[in-house]
Amino acid sequence: MLYRSGFLVLALGATRVLGALFQGPTEEVLKGSYDVIVVGGGAGGGAMASRLSEDPDIRVLLIEAGSSDITNLNSTVPGLANNLVMSAFDWNFTTTPQAGYNGRSIDYPRGFVLGGSTAINQMLFCRGTVDDYDRWARVTGDEGWSWKSLAPFIFAVDHMTPPVDHHNTTGEFNPVLHKNGPVSISVDSLILDTNTRVLETTQQLPDLFPFNLDYNSGTSVGVAWKQNAILNGHRVTSATSYLAQAMNRKNLDVVVNTRVTKVFPVGTEDGKPVFRGVEFAQTADGPRHTLKATQEVILSAGSLKTPHILMLSGIGDSAHLSSFGIKTIVDLPGVGQNLHDHAFLGNSWTVNSTNTLDDLQRNATAAAEALALWKANATGPLSVAAGSSQFGFVRIPNATAFFQQFGVEDPSAGPSSGHIEHIPTNSYVSTTVPIPAEGHFFAIITAVISPTARGNVTLRSSDPFDAPLINPALLGNDVDLAIMREGVKAARAFVKAPAWSGYIISEFGEFGNATTEDALNEYIRNNSATVDHPVGSVAMGKDESAPLTPDLKVRGTVGLRVVDASAFPFIPSGHTQGPTYILAERAAHLVRADLKK
Ligand SMILES: Cc1cc2nc3c(=O)[nH]c(=O)nc-3n(C[C@H](O)[C@H](O)[C@H](O)COP(=O)(O)OP(=O)(O)OC[C@H]3O[C@@H](n4cnc5c(N)ncnc54)[C@H](O)[C@@H]3O)c2cc1C
Ligand SMILES: *[C@@H]1O[C@H](CO)[C@@H](O)[C@H](O)[C@H]1NC(C)=O
Ligand SMILES: *[C@@H]1O[C@H](CO)[C@@H](O)[C@H](O)[C@H]1NC(C)=O
Ligand SMILES: *[C@@H]1O[C@H](CO)[C@@H](O)[C@H](O)[C@H]1NC(C)=O
Ligand SMILES: *[C@@H]1O[C@H](CO)[C@@H](O)[C@H](O)[C@H]1NC(C)=O
Ligand SMILES: *[C@@H]1O[C@H](CO)[C@@H](O)[C@H](O)[C@H]1NC(C)=O
Ligand SMILES: *[C@@H]1O[C@H](CO)[C@@H](O)[C@H](O)[C@H]1NC(C)=O
Ligand SMILES: *[C@@H]1O[C@H](CO)[C@@H](O)[C@H](O)[C@H]1NC(C)=O
Ligand SMILES: *[C@@H]1O[C@H](CO)[C@@H](O)[C@H](O)[C@H]1NC(C)=O
Ligand SMILES: *[C@@H]1O[C@H](CO)[C@@H](O)[C@H](O)[C@H]1NC(C)=O
Ligand SMILES: *[C@@H]1O[C@H](CO)[C@@H](O)[C@H](O)[C@H]1NC(C)=O
Repeated sequence: MLYRSGFLVLALGATRVLGALFQGPTEEVLKGSYDVIVVGGGAGGGAMASRLSEDPDIRVLLIEAGSSDITNLNSTVPGLANNLVMSAFDWNFTTTPQAGYNGRSIDYPRGFVLGGSTAINQMLFCRGTVDDYDRWARVTGDEGWSWKSLAPFIFAVDHMTPPVDHHNTTGEFNPVLHKNGPVSISVDSLILDTNTRVLETTQQLPDLFPFNLDYNSGTSVGVAWKQNAILNGHRVTSATSYLAQAMNRKNLDVVVNTRVTKVFPVGTEDGKPVFRGVEFAQTADGPRHTLKATQEVILSAGSLKTPHILMLSGIGDSAHLSSFGIKTIVDLPGVGQNLHDHAFLGNSWTVNSTNTLDDLQRNATAAAEALALWKANATGPLSVAAGSSQFGFVRIPNATAFFQQFGVEDPSAGPSSGHIEHIPTNSYVSTTVPIPAEGHFFAIITAVISPTARGNVTLRSSDPFDAPLINPALLGNDVDLAIMREGVKAARAFVKAPAWSGYIISEFGEFGNATTEDALNEYIRNNSATVDHPVGSVAMGKDESAPLTPDLKVRGTVGLRVVDASAFPFIPSGHTQGPTYILAERAAHLVRADLKK
């Protein structure tokens, strides 16, 4: 019910009485007094603003660059998610030419709306694994980031809801693991006839593809039913979950259509600059406004914009900043470094069936029928995300020996994490070659889930309205390329299971020609893209070289933290919205404890 009532408040364009949503920096906002100012209303910022404002004594302002159009049909209908890339909901970033992609630049979507990237993503809900978080604990020297210590925060994020077809979901997840949090999740309704074949494969090839009852238990290896941030056939974002339940609080103001251009010091404490000042504007040449938080500024602008704001504020590598005429206030060379992401590749086969989702992508009549059905009662093929009800994580067999060939240690966090992700999909998938006008397809998306290459986010100019230069170093070395090769080989092994005989016809397009190692490398480099999981660009760590302390404070400053996916020292072996929510849950706890002192 909280979800519904909050949704309604936002949808009607709330006034101060109902929920304090402002369409711009009005006089009321500029005269406001706030203890904490949160910059960015995505996964991290939405959860932070919500959890902090649970305490009525903490006055919170959330500033979001994008709009408050959270009920937009393209965002709400799970199956229309692809309409959001390069739209009014996207920052429209592109990467620098990626050496690992034969010099191609790729689209790099990021949500530009309340809810941030949770409002434009593919909704798959992953927590990460025991080993992912235990590695965070090791590199930060803070046991508080271990799976065991984080458990109360991990279990505070989501709760399971019934799928739209209300089928019996016994055996599709472990209900005791999903009880408490504001983010509603669900498994798919039973629409895809390939589900049965995927599940049969787990019985026929159990060594490589064992069935996993619940990949959110701490061990993600194996094939499992996807859990999606979808409630009753509607997308769930940080805005429709965390924020919706907070919008009626008198101590939370939210201002949209407003970009933070920098943070600035308001004094010094123990010789350190106190970064409680925030500067913002609505347009590149419009007026700049400022506000000062009494306690903290939290940057939650995401892995690309948070390091950008820090550099514009004089926090970063001094040589880099001075080459753009920016005066260094805190010399922190780690800001913008360590950017990494999951490489993505769609591998498609032609199939002996007409019952696939391909027509939704190329037949306007079929697409209109599906939308009409969704509008009638939120069922049908558009009520689920991305054409797959199960997915899986695979470990490369004999990993230690495999990685020794490249002179590196196993890059996965440990045995509970995969090296490769597989997403079996009931339609054609390619980000480079458009869907053919005819034919029906099955695809397996392969992703490098434990990458070793590292890139960076750097300044293009000193104009805050200019995009930064973004280099996620996708397939940036031979190790990551080899992991993707193993992913494609495992995908080929998957469809060799008897379950697929009479269904799979042949590998489609350049995939079918990728029979030698060289041809496979060329196919991978020419066709890979991103799972849209950039992280790590302002990482926490115990070493002085890490830009954040283990409690997420920007090193060398007072009053400034980062709470978003940029803080991850290593990318989790799964999709990143869940880990960002989990990070924010603990961050809110850390901030509230500090504010009490
Ligand atoms: C297309 C796509 C598909 C994805 N699919 C999945 C998936 O299926 N499952 C999954 O788990 N993850 C997925 N992700 C990733 C996931 O959504 C992100 O990892 C997560 O949202 C990161 O949270 P964040 O808080 O770091 O950043 P975001 O959620 O991106 O939030 C950052 C917010 O800050 C705002 N902002 C930025 N700069 C400023 C500024 N200067 N002033 C004010 N506000 C600012 C932005 O507009 C945005 O609202 C996907 C992402 C994309 C883009
Ligand atoms: C949804 O996306 C489609 C395709 O880009 C666009 O034509 C349509 O206007 C969008 N709908 C809304 C409500 O924004
Ligand atoms: C992204 O591109 C779309 C389509 O051109 C545009 O409507 C939108 O305003 C752009 N986003 C930003 C943040 O400029
Ligand atoms: C769902 O299926 C399980 C296992 O088949 C069964 O034990 C249970 O009774 C079923 N639940 C309902 C509500 O039918
Ligand atoms: C497009 O979809 C409609 C409705 O499902 C169907 O009747 C029609 O045959 C399809 N057209 C083609 C070319 O497949
Ligand atoms: C949804 O609407 C369609 C079309 O009216 C109908 O066939 C179907 O039974 C409905 N499903 C549910 C769960 O109400
Ligand atoms: C893994 O190593 C073991 C012994 O070290 C060997 O028997 C086995 O064949 C190897 N498996 C693969 C898939 O290489
Ligand atoms: C960012 O990475 C690129 C590619 O590795 C490198 O050439 C460049 O020097 C880096 N920039 C900074 C400021 O670190
Ligand atoms: C296609 O499937 C039908 C059954 O649906 C089967 O009779 C036929 O042999 C299959 N064709 C191929 C090429 O596998
Ligand atoms: C596959 O290889 C053949 C023979 O070299 C070539 O004719 C064909 O164009 C290639 N197909 C693709 C999709 O690259
Ligand atoms: C891969 O892309 C390059 C251009 O970057 C092109 O020259 C080459 O033919 C492509 N390879 C294949 C197998 O299509």
